[in-house]
Amino acid sequence: MNVLGFETSCDETAVSICSNGKIVSSIVASQQNHSKFGGVVPEVASRMHEKLLLTTMKKCLDDSKISKKKIDAIAVTIGPGLMGALLTGVSFAKGLSVGLNIPLIGVNHMEAHLFSNFIEYPDLEFPFLCLLVSGGHTQIWKVKNFRDYILLGDTRDDAAGEAFDKGARLLGLSYPGGIEIEKQSKNGNSNKYKFPLALYNSKEIEFSFSGLKSSLLRFSQKFNGEIPKNIISDVAASYQKAIVDSLLNKLKLAEQKTKISTIVIGGGVAANQSLREKTSIIFKNSRVLFPSLQLCTDNAAMIAFLGEKLIKKGFKSNISVGVYPNLKLNDLK
Ligand code: KG4
Ligand code: ZN
Repeated sequence: MNVLGFETSCDETAVSICSNGKIVSSIVASQQNHSKFGGVVPEVASRMHEKLLLTTMKKCLDDSKISKKKIDAIAVTIGPGLMGALLTGVSFAKGLSVGLNIPLIGVNHMEAHLFSNFIEYPDLEFPFLCLLVSGGHTQIWKVKNFRDYILLGDTRDDAAGEAFDKGARLLGLSYPGGIEIEKQSKNGNSNKYKFPLALYNSKEIEFSFSGLKSSLLRFSQKFNGEIPKNIISDVAASYQKAIVDSLLNKLKLAEQKTKISTIVIGGGVAANQSLREKTSIIFKNSRVLFPSLQLCTDNAAMIAFLGEKLIKKGFKSNISVGVYPNLKLNDLK
């Protein structure tokens, strides 16, 4: 079976083909237009998706050497994400599904991040713990089985990716902030400055990152909003450490509470090298899995992969399926 998947929930226009569990082609057109605004501008993202969808699909089909006629189903992200951005992908996918007379399957973006681990680790077994860390989410899930997910902990305010993005802005770095902070941190001393680790000693599995961002804002105000260039890498490294340590502290708590020793991490922040290294050290007696870097940040491979799984299990979306900007992992449409 060949499934053509589309991802347009935010600022990546992505198309992929999954054939019987294998990713044959995965093309991601990252929109560069947002960096000068320090974040994603929804209207700009929608317009760029409109512009890029057809060419990205053509590239994907050429790359896979699979003709359109050989596509058996269309998978598309239906949420969560930006309303207009989601609509561009879903409308495009619906048109293809009708035109080619093949089934359509709407995919939950967060469930796809969770499942992206199965692409590279097909032997991954339930139950496992999943830390989902992206621009909009910071959650720990107990994944008991397919579509049997229990939320163990969430953030009270900002997501970890948001903390990276807002922190980068305060440091005068460009968007997306995570990768920029990571680059700066490479030459920095992460113990130089102490940033707060909210809820660190609480026995609840929950996160909070808004205080961390405010603390960086206060720090930058000491320099009239412009942190001197010669200390940026130390500040970035210390700030990154605060985010990573907060995440791992609660992941450890979740492991202790559930006694589950398989841990998977998904979402854009999972690309962070410091998070990857520290997780492997702290959980050295557990099985820890990270998707490869291109599967951490937004992509359509995870959409096509989960779409194929769902189709094979008998799921199918109606052509009238909507878009769901606030879709939760457990809200299965
Ligand atoms: O999953 P994703 O690509 O999009 C959403 O679904 O939100 O995640 C994007 C987030 C952004 O906040 C970005 O700054 C962060 O992931 N990110 C990183 C890294 N690469 C992307 N954060 C830390 N380190 C990275 N290397
Ligand atoms: Zn994502």
